[in-house]
Amino acid sequence: MFHKNRLEATQNRIGAKKKFAIHDGGREKEHPDDEDDPDWLVPAIPEDTPHIPYKPIKRPMEEILQRSIDYYELMAKRRTVRSFSTEPIPQEVLDNIVKTAGTAPSGAHTEPWTYVVVQDANMKEAIRNIVEEEEELNYRRRMSRQWVTDLKPFATSYKKPYLSDAPALILVFRQTYSWREDGKKRMHYYNEISIAIAAGFLLAAIQYCGLVALTSTPLNCNARLRDLLSRPSNERLELLLPVGRPHEEATVPHISRKTLEQIMINA
Ligand SMILES: Cc1cc2nc3c(=O)[nH]c(=O)nc-3n(C[C@H](O)[C@H](O)[C@H](O)COP(=O)(O)O)c2cc1C
Repeated sequence: MFHKNRLEATQNRIGAKKKFAIHDGGREKEHPDDEDDPDWLVPAIPEDTPHIPYKPIKRPMEEILQRSIDYYELMAKRRTVRSFSTEPIPQEVLDNIVKTAGTAPSGAHTEPWTYVVVQDANMKEAIRNIVEEEEELNYRRRMSRQWVTDLKPFATSYKKPYLSDAPALILVFRQTYSWREDGKKRMHYYNEISIAIAAGFLLAAIQYCGLVALTSTPLNCNARLRDLLSRPSNERLELLLPVGRPHEEATVPHISRKTLEQIMINA
């Protein structure tokens, strides 16, 4: 049933595109569905979605000030950690941090994300093998010499023991589009910035609950990791986050951050 709908929808779309080609002198539009056809132009979520009152706690300004300080101080302590304790994380904690990421805003509420959480030792090992293989090539010949040089202060290399040590790996996949119940392709507007915001929520949740993460973007690993984890072709791996407690002897580079004056302009 679902497939039949999808087939029909696709055929309709081809028809719509053809019509468009005539109107538009053969030029293809970026959004071929933008057709003046009332049967086709149905919002992805119901048009009659009710609007309900929104009344968050109204805090006094002094409390707002204090909370802004407290949250800054909490987030300022966040660091990228590259050696992990093997202590497991309760499933409920993982559920809650991913649920928090799922509260992020997204273009037209498309929620273009999938979080794959890996705790199984064999799967972590398989991920590590792929990442190390690709990273060895990245360091040797895919990254520029300047890039490899810029990474020296962080003491990174193609070796990634943290991919086996960290109790959980969270792989953040960006959905470039999806399929609606009615078989129509659902456009994921602004999916790149949406996933980046959601990743920020995820990192903040990890920090708030007292765990650490390593924000990593394994270069050239998308296809192999997507296959390994059986993710569909509309999904792209954006981030691989080992999560857990830091190793007792973990160290971090002593770096400074830009000052408020350097990053803020009151116009
Ligand atoms: C998009 C992105 C990609 C990153 N990729 C890697 C990576 O592949 N490996 C790594 O060790 N660190 C990676 N990092 C971590 C940065 O090196 C780190 O955030 C930066 O040095 C600042 O340190 P801090 O996170 O402790 O404040 C990445 C960070 C970001 C935001």
